[in-house]
Amino acid sequence: MTTIAFLGLGRMGAAMAAALCAASHDVTVWNRSSAGYPRLDDELQLAGADRTPRRARTPAEAVVNAQAVLTMLADGPAIDDVLFGRDGAAAAMRTGTVVCDLSTTGVDSARHCAARLNEAGIDFVDAPVSGSVPTVRARRLLVMAGGKAESVSGLESILAAFAARVVHVGGSGSGQAMKLSVNAVVHILDGAISEALVLAERGGVSRDMALEVFSASVVGAPFVQYKRAAFADPDGHPVAFTIDLMRKDLGLVVEFARDRGSPVPLAAAAARITDAAVAAGLGDRDMSALAVLHRGAAAPDEQTDQQVL
Ligand SMILES: NC(=O)c1ccc[n+]([C@@H]2O[C@H](COP(=O)([O-])OP(=O)(O)OC[C@H]3O[C@@H](n4cnc5c(N)ncnc54)[C@H](OP(=O)(O)O)[C@@H]3O)[C@@H](O)[C@H]2O)c1
Repeated sequence: MTTIAFLGLGRMGAAMAAALCAASHDVTVWNRSSAGYPRLDDELQLAGADRTPRRARTPAEAVVNAQAVLTMLADGPAIDDVLFGRDGAAAAMRTGTVVCDLSTTGVDSARHCAARLNEAGIDFVDAPVSGSVPTVRARRLLVMAGGKAESVSGLESILAAFAARVVHVGGSGSGQAMKLSVNAVVHILDGAISEALVLAERGGVSRDMALEVFSASVVGAPFVQYKRAAFADPDGHPVAFTIDLMRKDLGLVVEFARDRGSPVPLAAAAARITDAAVAAGLGDRDMSALAVLHRGAAAPDEQTDQQVL
């Protein structure tokens, strides 16, 4: 059993914190708003956890006795606030604590956090994940970890509560570099399925039939299989990953690629499409709702080039 502080009870964080309780760790949780706590209660019930985590009023209070601090927050500015802002966690941690950030924040944010925490004798591992809420519940996540080998191996028994595999990618920031590369593929694929699904529908094929054929064909990647129900019923299916977060990821991919001089024309096009989806009011919808954007768009011969991309 490890004493853990878990900061951030969004969709993913609530499921992860519940999994840590179900694995009998001693957990203290904190979330910025009250919205995270009912989410955590639901996840604790689903996980069949008999341990209830303590609730802290601030990030600083949550981490006082922690051996490990896990964070699952929206983005880089959020992790910066929670670690270094008012009542932030960093000033309250003891030397030797390991911080493991599971969020997708980008390489620069990870390196900045590592450098500031290392100065205070605190270790930082960037550990973004591949998978979604059902994957957390099934303990099947993939973790891409960047940091010292001994810190990553020390975290493995904790991460086993929700991850099937922890890959030590390399030094600080390399987990984020890998995650941005994985998500470039995921988001391009999501965009491809969205537009091809609407194309099939406009060709007179039913949505269910098109999804059945995509799944059975050479394009039936695991992503296509596990988003199938969401694409089939975008209004009735629970949100797993929002278009707002997709836009955040693609912004990080394009910025990272620009810094490294790496061409990402497809990711750049996907970023423009998510901008359009957010402008159309779809930001809080699941990523599968990109098809909703295309379904509502004018027929191709009425579109300008701008609308096509
Ligand atoms: N959902 C997925 O399937 C998935 C999969 C892989 C990776 N990820 C990544 O995991 C991270 C979390 O995703 P999610 O879907 O769980 O997001 P989410 O449901 O939107 O939750 C975001 C969390 O961040 C907190 N937050 C946002 N801004 C903050 C700030 N300035 N200060 C303090 N807390 C702040 C939110 O607090 P409030 O509750 O108060 O708003 C909430 O706890 C993201 O980086 C995402 O890209 C998600």
